Amino acid sequence: MSPELGTILMRTLSPNILVIFGASGDLTHRKLIPALYNLMCDGMLPENFAMVGFARKPNTNEGYRADIRQTVEKFSRTKPINEAVWARFETMMHYQQGDYSTSADYEKLAERLSTIDAAQGTNGNRLFYIATPPEVYTAITEHIGLTQSLKPEGGWSRIIIEKPFGTDLASARSLNEHVHRFFDEQQIFRIDHYLGKETVQNILVFRFANGIFEPIWNRNYVDHVQITVAEDIGIGNRGSYYEKSGVVRDIIQNHGLQLIALTAMEPPIELDALSVRNEKVKVLKSMRIDDAHGDGTVRGQYGPGKVDGQVVSGYLQEEQVAGDSQTETYLAMKFYVDNWRWAGVPFYIRSGKRLPLRTTEIAIQFKLPPLLLFSHNTAAAIEPNELVLNIQPEEGISIKFGSKEPGSGEKVQPVNMNFAYGSTFKSPAPDAYERLIIDAMLGDGTLFTRADEVEAQWSLISPVIDGWQSGSGSFIEQYRAGTWGPKAANDFIALDGRRWRTL
Ligand code: BG6
Repeated sequence: MSPELGTILMRTLSPNILVIFGASGDLTHRKLIPALYNLMCDGMLPENFAMVGFARKPNTNEGYRADIRQTVEKFSRTKPINEAVWARFETMMHYQQGDYSTSADYEKLAERLSTIDAAQGTNGNRLFYIATPPEVYTAITEHIGLTQSLKPEGGWSRIIIEKPFGTDLASARSLNEHVHRFFDEQQIFRIDHYLGKETVQNILVFRFANGIFEPIWNRNYVDHVQITVAEDIGIGNRGSYYEKSGVVRDIIQNHGLQLIALTAMEPPIELDALSVRNEKVKVLKSMRIDDAHGDGTVRGQYGPGKVDGQVVSGYLQEEQVAGDSQTETYLAMKFYVDNWRWAGVPFYIRSGKRLPLRTTEIAIQFKLPPLLLFSHNTAAAIEPNELVLNIQPEEGISIKFGSKEPGSGEKVQPVNMNFAYGSTFKSPAPDAYERLIIDAMLGDGTLFTRADEVEAQWSLISPVIDGWQSGSGSFIEQYRAGTWGPKAANDFIALDGRRWRTL
C-alpha cells in the first residue's frame, strides 16, 4: 500500500452504498468499476460496502457481474484478477434496471437499497454517482432529491456529478441552482478527474512543502508559463459528444483552467476544501484572456495523417461528425492573471487531439540573468531556466539550467536535473478515480469543483465560445494528424518573441 493510501485510511470511511447512474456506460466500465476493484485489492473500501448500478438496459446481477469482470480484466491497474478478492468484490456488485425519469423506478431502487442495508450493514449512507450523458442530470438529481425513501434518516447522502457541468455560463448556473434545490453544496461533488491525479496534487506539495521554489514563483522571476495537454488519440466513438464540445469544453474549460489555477494560486491558510477552493476561485476571477491579437485563441482541426506510424482519418471523416463541422480539436490560448504575483506574466495553454504524443506538462520559464556574461562565446544563445512539472505519462519534475561544457572554453550548455516518480516511488500511482471516490465517501470536497469555481471557469470561457458562434474570433485551420497543431499556433506565440516547447 502506498504511504498516501495509508494516510487516507487514517481518515474514517463509513459503510455506504455507491449508486452509479449510467452503470452500463463507457465511463463506468473503463474507469469506475476498475477503480472500485483496485480499491478493494488495496483494502481501501469499507468492510460494509455495496455498489448498485442503475441503468436503462435490462440486465441481471449475474449478467452485470459477468460484464464488469471483462472490463476489470481489461482496464484494471492490478492484473491479473485476484480470484479471492474478486469472489468477495462480486458479491458487493448489484444491478438495478430503471428509467431515469420514472418516479416508480426510484422507489424500486430505494427498496433495493434498504434490502442491501439490512444484509450488508451499509447504515443508510448513500453516495449517488451520476455518470450518465448530461441530458439526464437534472432528472436524476430531482428524482433523488424528491424520493425520500432513497435517503433514510440517520444516514448521509452525497452526489457526484460528472463533467461536463453545463455547456456555458448560463447552463452551469441553472444546473447549480437546480442541484442546490435538493442538495447542500457540501453534499455535491463535481468531478474534474485531473484533480485526482497524483501529479496534479503534487503541484501544491511541490510549491508549498518546499522553501526554495515559492520565493521565485512570481512575476519578478517568471517570464511565462506554458501548459500543454496533448493527446495522440482522436475522438474515437464519441463523435456526437465531441461535436457539441470541442477541445474548449472538453479540456480547456475544466482540466486546463484547473492546472492554471493550481500553478498560480496563493498558499491556502489550510489544506481543507474551503481554503484551497477559495484560493483557486481568486485566481480564476483574476484571469483574463489576452485579446491584443484577435480574440486570443488559435483553433485547429485535425485532418488525415499518421500517428505513431498508423494512418488515421481526419476529424471530418470520423463517425457522427458533420462533413462541414466547425468543431475545434486543437486550441491555444493566452491568459493573464491580474494580481500582484502574476501581473504581466502570460500563461499560454495548448491542447489538442491527434498530436504526435500523449503528454501533459506545466513548464515555468524563468527570466534570463540580468547580464549575459557568457553569451558572446557560446554557440547557442543562453537558454532560460525552465522548471517542468510532468503530469503524464512520464510523471516527474525537471529543472533545466546552463552548465559549463568541459574544456578550456566557457561554453554553456543546457542540462537537466530530473526527478521521476517511477524510479523513486516504485509502486504505480492509483488512478485518479480511486482517490476521488474515496474522498467523496469521506465527504472531503477539496479535489472537487465548487459551484462558484465552475461558474468562474465558464465566465472566462463562455464569451470566447459566443464570439466564435457569432462569426468573430479565430479561424479553424486544419493540421495534419500527428503534427503539433496548426501553423497559426506557432505564429501566435512567436508574436510575443516566444515559442512552444519542443516535446
Ligand atoms: C476527458 C476528456 O475529460 O479527459 C477526454 O473528455 C480526454 O476527451 C480525457 O481524452 C483525458 O484524460 P487523461 O486522464 O487521459 O489525460
